[in-house]
Amino acid sequence: MDQILRNILKAEAATIDAAMEADLVAVQSPLLHEVLCHALFQGGKRIRPLLVRYSASLIGEPPAHVNTLASVFEYLHAASLLHDDVIDHADLRRGKETANRLWGNEAVILAGDYLLARAMELVAAFGGAECQRLVSEAIRRMVEGEFLQMRVAETRNASEASYFAILQGKTAALIGAACEVGIVFAGGTRQQRRALRTYGTNLGLAFQIIDDLLDYHGDPNETGKAVGNDFQEGKMTLPLLMALANAGGADRARLEALLAATPETRRAAFAEARRLLDASGAFANARAKAETLITEAIASLAIFPDTAARQVLTGLAGYVLTRTK
Ligand code: IPE
Ligand code: IPE
Ligand code: MG
Ligand code: MG
Repeated sequence: MDQILRNILKAEAATIDAAMEADLVAVQSPLLHEVLCHALFQGGKRIRPLLVRYSASLIGEPPAHVNTLASVFEYLHAASLLHDDVIDHADLRRGKETANRLWGNEAVILAGDYLLARAMELVAAFGGAECQRLVSEAIRRMVEGEFLQMRVAETRNASEASYFAILQGKTAALIGAACEVGIVFAGGTRQQRRALRTYGTNLGLAFQIIDDLLDYHGDPNETGKAVGNDFQEGKMTLPLLMALANAGGADRARLEALLAATPETRRAAFAEARRLLDASGAFANARAKAETLITEAIASLAIFPDTAARQVLTGLAGYVLTRTK
């Protein structure tokens, strides 16, 4: 991402942080306040609120309170990560111990519920009925995505189709809704809404593919998460699915044997597995898929005038492919 864009986003993220800090002053319980600050102010990239902000700016100066509406999406995201780290038994997020490690599941589940409730309260107060419907729909689809992920893991019938169905729910629904809420709030037309839903959905799918690639190739000092975790857990992400489809007989048999083995065996064999995936072309193929999605996302912005906001959204789409954290 170029330096100019980076500076614009940094300044904008600071105003969103200020909106959240002001909002959290009302939290009475010291423990709840501590968990919320840990969940919200630990170096998150603020992608979702920035998408609301710039989607709303595509057709002119957005109405007042756009930052409050933007912060709703960071609340929803933080709630989903609080719950996700309980579900995934995760120890590390953004380079720090997870909230569930520090305070236990009870406090963390409740803190996530608080953020969901507060997000709905804010969107009802500032966004109107249509934004409220979009937010509720996104939350429902995220939950459905997680249930689909559980069922696919249990029945061991992962496929590229099921992978993308899971991503549509767990990652793309919220990112798509952030973009659509932005343009609805700004008074956009149906055609403009459709364009932003396409942009956000494609961005969300690519975002998660890159996340799944970083689980194989990322630097844990940058991602702030353990690398190799997905393979150890036997998670059928796109690179692994593509390797199973394209690897030669012996390599495929070795990968299948590792998937039938224990997590400890997989952990010990991670470097070998990564070589097998690489040799099958899986990493390059998964990246190519993400690139196609991003090209489509950027193309859907063509109906908007070429403004600073459109350039920021184009830059953000490009950043999804180059991000290292
Ligand atoms: C992490 O999202 C969860 C996924 C959907 C992959 P982000 O990468 O946006 O998380 P933060 O907020 O920047 O840490
Ligand atoms: C991200 O899912 C959380 C949501 C999208 C709700 P994952 O479990 O795949 O991602 P990380 O690796 O914990 O961020
Ligand atoms: Mg997780
Ligand atoms: Mg998860």
